[in-house]
Amino acid sequence: MKILGIETTCDETGIALIEFKETKFRILSHKLRSQIKVHSKYGGIVPILAAREHKKNLPILFDSLIREIKIDFKKDIDYFAFSYGPGLPPALVEGKEFVVSLAKKYEKKIIPVNHLIAHFYSVLISKNKIGVWQKIKEIPLPALGLLVSGGHTILAFIEDFRKIKKLGETLDDAIGESLDKGARILGLDYPGGPKLEKLAKKGRPLFNLPHPLINQKNFNFSFAGLKTAFWELVEEIRKYNKLDELKQDLAYSYQKTAFETVIIKTKKAFEKYRPKSIIVTGGVIANQFLRKMFVKVFGTKVYFPVKNLSTDNGINIAFSGYFLLDKAVEYSNLDIDPLADI
Ligand code: KG4
Ligand code: ZN
Repeated sequence: MKILGIETTCDETGIALIEFKETKFRILSHKLRSQIKVHSKYGGIVPILAAREHKKNLPILFDSLIREIKIDFKKDIDYFAFSYGPGLPPALVEGKEFVVSLAKKYEKKIIPVNHLIAHFYSVLISKNKIGVWQKIKEIPLPALGLLVSGGHTILAFIEDFRKIKKLGETLDDAIGESLDKGARILGLDYPGGPKLEKLAKKGRPLFNLPHPLINQKNFNFSFAGLKTAFWELVEEIRKYNKLDELKQDLAYSYQKTAFETVIIKTKKAFEKYRPKSIIVTGGVIANQFLRKMFVKVFGTKVYFPVKNLSTDNGINIAFSGYFLLDKAVEYSNLDIDPLADI
């Protein structure tokens, strides 16, 4: 069975083709175009520009994929999978229009995939390598799931991948968003998360910042207060003309505080629910410092996506589609849901 997956929820245009044989699969092609350059000068994602870029890039990526994989789409493809939300409404509309045009042309059904759930499914992929057969990874369940991305910070209980219950989420900024804002306070471009990580490499934990909500019993998060405290601290340091000298230490302290907050909450949920494993996924887990913190606390119980699959891409969508075949719809019944939840 072959599934083509399409991702356009935010600022990455992704298309991937995966072939499945029972519990094995291989990635046949993977095309991804990031819009970072388009948005960075605005300090964040501009939805209407994201939509324009998806509209431009989808046919380019698709053409490049069909040139690379010489297959008869009508005969050889079984389904199209498409991420219907959550995401930016104009970006989702472009993805939907594109997948509907393909489904019409090749007479296929479409599997609507929830973007958040796709982040969780992505940990079942062991290798991000084109053409190599691999087994679907088995992870001991039930698991605790933590999604740390630019748009979400969610703790969930995963009884199985089709039965995910939310335990808590951020009440204001998502962790990725808070890293991007913290980075911006230090004068770094969007997306600031990776740049903050680089800057923090030579930093020291010199500054104490607040860990919001860690003493509350629930599993919600809050990062807005941390960002405000950081802004005040940076302004104070700027007054003394010490910003350049202390930038690395500020980056280190900010990142560390945000990460400690998620570790503390995850540990509390772990103690309460006693899962067999912990899945940490989403763009922010590309951060090596955070990965190390999780491994230090949870050892072999923790699972991450492999390189380049923690951020948004088409592979995650095509792969998730395989587990959701019963949800496939005719193109005329497809809809987007910008506020989709898990
Ligand atoms: O999952 P994702 O690609 O998109 C959403 O669905 O939001 O996550 C993007 C977020 C951005 O906030 C970005 O700054 C953050 O992931 N990110 C990182 C790193 N790489 C990406 N944050 C910290 N360290 C990184 N290395
Ligand atoms: Zn995402």
